[in-house]
Amino acid sequence: MRIGVAREIKSHEYRVALTPAGARELVQRGHEVLVESTAGEGSAFADADYVRAGARIVSVDDVWGHAELLLKVKEPTVSEYPRLREGLVLFTYLHIAADEPLTRALVESGITAVAYETVETDDRKLPLLAPMSEIAGRLAAQAGAYFLEKPLGGRGLLLGGVPGVAPGRVLVLGGGIVGYNAAIIAIGLGAQVTILDRSIDRMRHLDEILSGRVSTVMSSTLQIESSIADADVVIGAVLVPGARAPKLVTRGMLGVMKKGAVIVDVAIDQGGCVETARPTTHDDPVYAVDGITHYCVANMPGGVPITSTKALTNATLPYVEEIADLGLARAVAHDRSLARGVNVLEGKITYDAVAEAHGLEYTPLEDLLPLATV
Ligand SMILES: NC(=O)c1ccc[n+]([C@@H]2O[C@H](COP(=O)([O-])OP(=O)(O)OC[C@H]3O[C@@H](n4cnc5c(N)ncnc54)[C@H](O)[C@@H]3O)[C@@H](O)[C@H]2O)c1
Repeated sequence: MRIGVAREIKSHEYRVALTPAGARELVQRGHEVLVESTAGEGSAFADADYVRAGARIVSVDDVWGHAELLLKVKEPTVSEYPRLREGLVLFTYLHIAADEPLTRALVESGITAVAYETVETDDRKLPLLAPMSEIAGRLAAQAGAYFLEKPLGGRGLLLGGVPGVAPGRVLVLGGGIVGYNAAIIAIGLGAQVTILDRSIDRMRHLDEILSGRVSTVMSSTLQIESSIADADVVIGAVLVPGARAPKLVTRGMLGVMKKGAVIVDVAIDQGGCVETARPTTHDDPVYAVDGITHYCVANMPGGVPITSTKALTNATLPYVEEIADLGLARAVAHDRSLARGVNVLEGKITYDAVAEAHGLEYTPLEDLLPLATV
């Protein structure tokens, strides 16, 4: 198959959808890889690295015009809509349930679009979102520690303390992938860490794997009110699948917090779990409300593209190989996780939540293609 890798043109997007190592794997399997010139630059991969891996460097027109399977990181921007076309399979983060113009552009073009974020295993895991949650969680603890510094508006506390001086306290709301990874780094820095979750099974698991290095506590409004008063850093990491994040920290609760404490609301991409949180960018990541620093960067992994690109490719490559080796129809017949990723097939919306969100027609994928039943 002819696989294209497009350069990301969204502002401050430095990731690329395939590393030279990934390109090499695909070339070895007999595929042709076209990489748009300078696509890897933001992630420290030069065109020459791709050429050494057996890929060809091409122009933007050629990568979009000649690829059968096009790999990207972010959804197409408006200027890319005219490049969408019949016969192309696009594999990228799409998030089209929240983007009607893009949904319509995909439908009208007759393209096939597979969304990273809806590839879902039978046990309801999201393998192509998980690596970004791992990165965001780890960054959250780093950001919390950093913005505690006095010149940056923080309390002026070293999160890990020193011998003879107590460390700071980190409160993690939600102990899923983000929360676990935030906790790991906070523990590594020497902080005292408490995780609040609603799932007793999840807390049992965290307790086992972190073997007593964190306290796990059942999440409730009363518990949040009392834990937040002691916290130097609060990390918002809750997720209720398919819904906006619940507002666990209200404006009133900020009054009981220590001045200069830091809130990192990682759940900001789902609306945030802190009432006073609003999305920020890597350029201007923090603001203060009632003396509390708020860090609410909506695309945290974008700040560390070298790590994010590699982590993303590690997760996507097995699916890319499946599509390339078998063709999309046979690949989805063979793999139900990948089938759940198909949002649009040849211009027909095959993901019910997307059709419902925009009041457009829904066609079940199994009406168009044979799917695996086991
Ligand atoms: N800002 C970013 O750059 C970025 C990057 C990656 C992920 N995220 C976001 O981070 C959030 C967490 O993602 P994840 O992958 O860890 O999800 P996850 O499903 O692995 O974990 C969410 C956890 O929240 C818990 N939870 C739900 N309601 C709760 C409540 N009321 N109180 C306490 N815990 C509760 C769940 O039991 C679960 O353990 C999501 O909103 C995700 O979109 C943001």
